[in-house]
Amino acid sequence: MTKVLLINGSPKPNGCTYTALNEMVKIFNNENIEAEILHIGNKDIRGCIACNRCKQEGKCVFDDIVNATAEKFEKADGLVIGSPVYYASPNGTLISFLDRLFYSTPFSKHMKVGASVVNCRRGGNTASFDVLNKYFSISGMPVVSSTYWNMTHGFTPDDVQKDKEGLQTMRNLARDMAFMINAIKDAKEKYGLPEQQREFITSFPDGK
Ligand SMILES: Cc1cc2nc3c(=O)[nH]c(=O)nc-3n(C[C@H](O)[C@H](O)[C@H](O)COP(=O)(O)O)c2cc1C
Repeated sequence: MTKVLLINGSPKPNGCTYTALNEMVKIFNNENIEAEILHIGNKDIRGCIACNRCKQEGKCVFDDIVNATAEKFEKADGLVIGSPVYYASPNGTLISFLDRLFYSTPFSKHMKVGASVVNCRRGGNTASFDVLNKYFSISGMPVVSSTYWNMTHGFTPDDVQKDKEGLQTMRNLARDMAFMINAIKDAKEKYGLPEQQREFITSFPDGK
């Protein structure tokens, strides 16, 4: 069965970010897609220490919710990252989580589809949205779009319920995501995955 994993980066389990993500889940349920919202924002998640042990062990040296999520991410066809805006950025706990999740996981993310969703009271949403989309676009993951940038406004879930366009954007995003997942599944069968060359990792122009 097709699966989408939705990450709630907010410390609040049922806050504004959840309200936006849950609007997507309702569409996934109608489209027969298994959807799970994983709440990580209330966990004590430290940042990456660049020890690079994951390159040998295939998982993060800190055995917490990051490694548990890696198993779910590997099985998922799509990933949605939801974040509240803190000082015009995604919240810090979520960034620590994502740095370690994307850096430590050895499996291919190629053609899993990704979407990010941000909620703010007032501003800093597009800057946060840009940060989150970069996890996808360095990983060979097509980024799903909608009828507006994927954002809702509010300080409480009731506020978000009043943001009719924001919720509409979430519903359209989920429909587009379902379509892209299905289209990519068909295309994989018809054409196979495109080749990804990996032989070069250059940090300086002379290749050293
Ligand atoms: C530390 C902190 C920083 C915040 N910075 C911003 C900000 O830059 N712009 C903004 O509009 N709202 C800001 N807010 C409000 C949050 O974006 C808002 O409370 C949150 O998106 C609500 O979502 P949630 O219920 O899922 O946590 C901030 C809140 C906190 C706690």
